[in-house]
Amino acid sequence: MPLFEGVTDVTQPMKIHLIAAARPNFMKIAPLYHALKRQTWAEPIIVHTGQHYDINMSDTFFKDLELPDPNIHLGIGSGSHAEQTGRVMIAYEKVLEKEMPALVVVAGDVNSTMACTIAASKIVYPSSPDRHAGSLRNDNRPIVAHLEAGLRSNDRTMPEEINRIVTDALADILWTPSPDAVENLLTEGVPRAKIMNVGNIMIDSLEMMRKKIECADAINEFGLTKGGYGLITLHRPANVDSPAILSTLCRMLIGASQKTPLVFPIHPRTRKHLDDFGLMDTLRDAKNIILSDPMNYIRFMNLVFNCKFVITDSGGIQEETTYLGIPCLTMRPNTERPVTVDQGTNQLCTIENLQRRIERIVSGGMKNHVVPELWDGHTAGRIVDTIRKLS
Ligand code: UD1
Repeated sequence: MPLFEGVTDVTQPMKIHLIAAARPNFMKIAPLYHALKRQTWAEPIIVHTGQHYDINMSDTFFKDLELPDPNIHLGIGSGSHAEQTGRVMIAYEKVLEKEMPALVVVAGDVNSTMACTIAASKIVYPSSPDRHAGSLRNDNRPIVAHLEAGLRSNDRTMPEEINRIVTDALADILWTPSPDAVENLLTEGVPRAKIMNVGNIMIDSLEMMRKKIECADAINEFGLTKGGYGLITLHRPANVDSPAILSTLCRMLIGASQKTPLVFPIHPRTRKHLDDFGLMDTLRDAKNIILSDPMNYIRFMNLVFNCKFVITDSGGIQEETTYLGIPCLTMRPNTERPVTVDQGTNQLCTIENLQRRIERIVSGGMKNHVVPELWDGHTAGRIVDTIRKLS
């Protein structure tokens, strides 16, 4: 039996909500938005939950990725996990009742991803002869699709892991970036028919913006040379919320910077803790560490393209560096993206072995690496084909 039965009203375009919430979501929805916008049968609508709201955590990404302003903005802002999740659910349920999209696309693993999935999975639209636009189901409910499904760190102390598990358990369609994600879902009992391995959509954004990234001038602005510096991003609670761990990390970075200059765009969570723990001045005094506010996509990627190595705890940067063949030192005990370690340039690091790993890279050591299958810049096209087949 097909997953969705033919109730499509072909006279109206299919209303598709693309949920954007936090910085790592924007690079995932942008290629899909652009690909859907070219289809006469689709009406993509960007819903921004407002989880990230600073200009340099949100607006600059919309501009760089050539996205219009969000059609709908929920203005949720910061809060505890339950507060943020609850506020998104309450606000998005009202939007669903009014807008009645046929398809809701959630991306990644942030709190808003899970919150919108729960709201959309439980909504039942009023039964009416004037059905919602381009409906795909015969039960008055939207289809929920998860973009970047199936990733697992198997570490439930990470809020993102909880968000991934709940989202994948509820979503109707699971678009995975790599075969390990397919395996994870099958192991959890997800029916094969719900899973489509479409590849990594972040690479679509990178390729879409490649010319602008290569022409950007961030490397010169900071007075750096190609291959002559390391780039740092740190924001995970496990690394930045504890004074003991964050101060040890700062000490390590200051030590490493004596041999190779480092650039450190600081995430708001990290900045707050550096200030609270009295570490900001120590970093400012380190003459080989360049500190900056969070950077926009194109200037930041210009620094990634040209650096010698990256030290990070981000998910997306592990993938971008694997694609670009740049060594990545991930300050985590595990990763939900094992393909970047097994096939790519990523190594999981501890405070104890970081220094040694940096020295090996600086002296020319490089692990063998390949670009994973379907990380080719054509993921959005494959997704559009799967949506078209639903209608
Ligand atoms: C969130 C995601 C994480 C993702 C990260 C990328 C969850 C559980 N976490 O973490 O998976 O890797 O985004 O950045 O969803 N803040 C600002 N301005 C902003 C946004 C946040 O100042 O625009 C500050 C607030 O003080 C806030 C804190 O940063 O409390 C953390 O923001 P939040 O969205 O809760 O989590 P992130 O650490 O950004």
